[in-house]
Amino acid sequence: MTARAIQQQDRAETNPAFSCRKLKLGTFQTNLDSGCVMSDLDGRLDITWPTTLGLARLAEEMDFEALVPVARWHGFGGATNPQGRGFEAYTWAAGIAASTAKAGVFATSHISLNHPIVAAKQSTVIDHISGGRYALNIVTGWNQPEIDMFGSPMMGHTERYACAEEWLTIVKRLWTEDDAFDHEGKFYKITKGYLQPKPIQRPYPAVMSAGASERGRHFATKYADLVFTVIRTGGLEECRAHVQAYHRLAREEYGREVRVWTVANIVQGETEKAARDFYRYYVHEKGDWEAAKNMIDTFTLDINARMIPTERLKAYQEAFIAGWGGFPLIGTKEQIVDGLQALSRAGVDGVLLCWPRFEQGMREFRDITYPLVRQAGLRDFG
Ligand SMILES: Cc1cc2nc3c(=O)[nH]c(=O)nc-3n(C[C@H](O)[C@H](O)[C@H](O)COP(=O)(O)O)c2cc1C
Repeated sequence: MTARAIQQQDRAETNPAFSCRKLKLGTFQTNLDSGCVMSDLDGRLDITWPTTLGLARLAEEMDFEALVPVARWHGFGGATNPQGRGFEAYTWAAGIAASTAKAGVFATSHISLNHPIVAAKQSTVIDHISGGRYALNIVTGWNQPEIDMFGSPMMGHTERYACAEEWLTIVKRLWTEDDAFDHEGKFYKITKGYLQPKPIQRPYPAVMSAGASERGRHFATKYADLVFTVIRTGGLEECRAHVQAYHRLAREEYGREVRVWTVANIVQGETEKAARDFYRYYVHEKGDWEAAKNMIDTFTLDINARMIPTERLKAYQEAFIAGWGGFPLIGTKEQIVDGLQALSRAGVDGVLLCWPRFEQGMREFRDITYPLVRQAGLRDFG
C-alpha cells in the first residue's frame, strides 16, 4: 500500500462541514479586528492571538462545524478602521487547526494573490494539521485598494472568474493527480506540477465559494461544495426560494448537489426591546458610518459590476455596520432560536454566526441560547 492510500480518508468522515447535523453552525471573521461590526462599540473584537483562539475554543465547546476567516489586507478607514488589523487567513487556519480538535477550519484565498501551487500546498498542510477538517474558501476579490497594494492591476469581474476557474482546476489537479503535469492556460503556466503528500481528505478538501453575481453563482454551483449566500430579511417563502435557486442551478446546469450556508448576526436581549435598544446604540450612536461608506463605495466601483440603487445605499451601510450584512437575528433567546429554525426550514444547511461583542455574545449564546437550539432539534443528526 502506498503512503497516500494509508493517509487519505473520505472527507464526509473527517470534515464536520459535511456532517448530517440538521443545522451546522460556525463563526465568521474572527481573524479580524472589530469582527463583523463597524462601530466604536466597547467589547468588540480586539484582535490578538489569545482572543481569536478563545473564540475558536468557545466554538468547539458547542461543536461548531466551521471557523471561517476573511481574507483582508487593510481596513476601511473611518474612526475605527474596522478590519485594519488582522491575521492572514492561511496561517491563521494553520494555527487554529493545531489548537483545536473537532471544528471545521477554513482558509480564505484571493485567487489573484496566491499562486495555485502555493494555495494547494498550504491547504494540504492545514488539512494534515487538522486531520481532514479543512475547507478552502475561494474569493476573487472586490476590494480594489487592497488588491492595488500588491501592485498589479485588478482584473475585471468576468476575467476574475475565468481566472478562478483555471486556478481551481490547477489546485484540484495537484490535490488529486499522482503524476506531474504541465499546464498552459490563459493565466498560468505550470511545468511538471507536483504535490506530495496529498491532502487527507479524499477526493480533495471541501471547497467554499460565496460568489453572488450571476457569474459568481455559476462558479459556486459548478465548482464549490459549500455555497455561501447573504440572505436579507424576508419571509420564509422568499428565503426558501433564494436557497432553492442555488440547488436548482447546481442540479439543472451542472448535475451537482451543493450545500447552502449563510451568515447571521445575533443581537440578543432579555426582552426584544432591550435587544433593539442595544442595536440602535451600537449602530446608530456608535456606528462608524464613514468606514461603511468607504466599504460600499469600493464595493460598488464599476470594476465590481454591482449596482446598488441610490435609495438602498443607507440600508446597505447599516447592514454592514450592524454585522457585515449578515441575516439579522435580533430579540430574545427564543426569537434567536426561532430565527435559526426559520433559516433551517428554508433549506439552509449551515449558518456562520457573529455577535457585536463577539466574546461576550458567544459566551451568552453558549450558556443561555445553545441549550434551546439543541432542544429545538436543530443540532440533531438527521
Ligand atoms: C460568507 C462570505 C465570505 C466572504 N469572504 C470574503 C473574503 O474573505 N474576502 C473577500 O475579498 N471577499 C469575500 N466575500 C465576498 C465574495 O467573495 C464575493 O466577492 C461577493 O459576494 C460578491 O460576489 P461577486 O464576486 O460574484 O460579484 C465573502 C462573501 C461572503 C458571503
